[in-house]
Amino acid sequence: MKNINRRDWLKLSGLTGAASVIGNPLNLSASNFVSIKGTAEQPIRLSSNENPYGPSPKVRQAMTNAYDDVCRYPYGWYKELVEMLAKKHGVHADNIMLTAGSTEGLKMAGITYGGEGSNIVTADPVFMAISRYAEHFGTYAHRVPVNKNMGHDLERMEQRITQSTRLVYVCNPNNPTSALEPAKELEAFCSAVSNRTVVFADEAYFDYIEAPNYPSMIELVKKGMNVIVARTFSKVYGLAGIRIGYLIARPDIINRIGKSVMAGPNILAVAAAKAALQDDEFYQFSLAKNAIGKKMAMDTLDGLGLEYVPSACNFLFFKTGRPITEVYADYIKEGIKVGRPFPPMLDWCRISMGTVEQVEQFCTATKKVFG
Ligand SMILES: Cc1ncc(COP(=O)(O)O)c(C=O)c1O
Repeated sequence: MKNINRRDWLKLSGLTGAASVIGNPLNLSASNFVSIKGTAEQPIRLSSNENPYGPSPKVRQAMTNAYDDVCRYPYGWYKELVEMLAKKHGVHADNIMLTAGSTEGLKMAGITYGGEGSNIVTADPVFMAISRYAEHFGTYAHRVPVNKNMGHDLERMEQRITQSTRLVYVCNPNNPTSALEPAKELEAFCSAVSNRTVVFADEAYFDYIEAPNYPSMIELVKKGMNVIVARTFSKVYGLAGIRIGYLIARPDIINRIGKSVMAGPNILAVAAAKAALQDDEFYQFSLAKNAIGKKMAMDTLDGLGLEYVPSACNFLFFKTGRPITEVYADYIKEGIKVGRPFPPMLDWCRISMGTVEQVEQFCTATKKVFG
């Protein structure tokens, strides 16, 4: 590990209490841990909010061990994982549905609550899986521009609810802006709105929230409210490619949405998720690495006077002041693939945290592109 990273690492590990993860204590495979420098021909992917350190060695082993079961249908393997998740979140097994990535859960909700004559309410910009899918099936999507903090404009979203609103989508922290809603406001909003329609709370980035005791909307599910929460193993657990996530909701909601299941997770994904839940060392390692990378990137943006949203995620959203298409091309020349354009914010750029070394490459490139 380079000196600068080790120094930053030590500094931050003091803050995060993660001193035990200095160096490569988990024996991560070289391809993940030692960054291959990105080139214009083969840029590094800082574009999709993945965790490049995954999967952890323990998860790899669990998947290898599960190969013998691959000749079987996976459904009988779900129960144990569902029970682990129920215990983790303090809910019952019948509150949980496993999905092939949380995207499957989002789409299942989109098709269940969408359809001709209905509408859904979302922020803009926001993660689009649910609204696009619902629109495809004839729903109208009310897109409410984010507020000045780049968070959900909850007041205006509530005003857009009509008799035909079947679902309100809240993505917190939000992708692509990375903003976290004030907890009290969000809870009040979800509680009030769930009396009128279904609230879908997408918590894909929940693990990265650093605010102490920040509440999950799972608490509202426990109170029996009309709320669905989506979680994923794609982010902090580093399992985006194996496709596993889950929904948490009242059993009647789970049963209703469950009728639209398309694939569900496979046996390797279930084995991976079970091992990931037990690998706290890797979980803490990933969070600490993310914090170091984010601090390095923020310092660089600060140094250049570039505005960014305080991030509760594994990515940063910063203002480029010029068209993202141009900036995107400039970064490709520097061996880095940044996030796609996010209309209407076409002079903003989303950058995912790679390994610390990859973020270092991003910092050097940013000084060149904007210096
Ligand atoms: C807010 C949000 N929700 C859901 C997803 C989908 O994740 P997955 O389908 O991999 O669980 C993403 C992916 O980037 C996301 O940003």
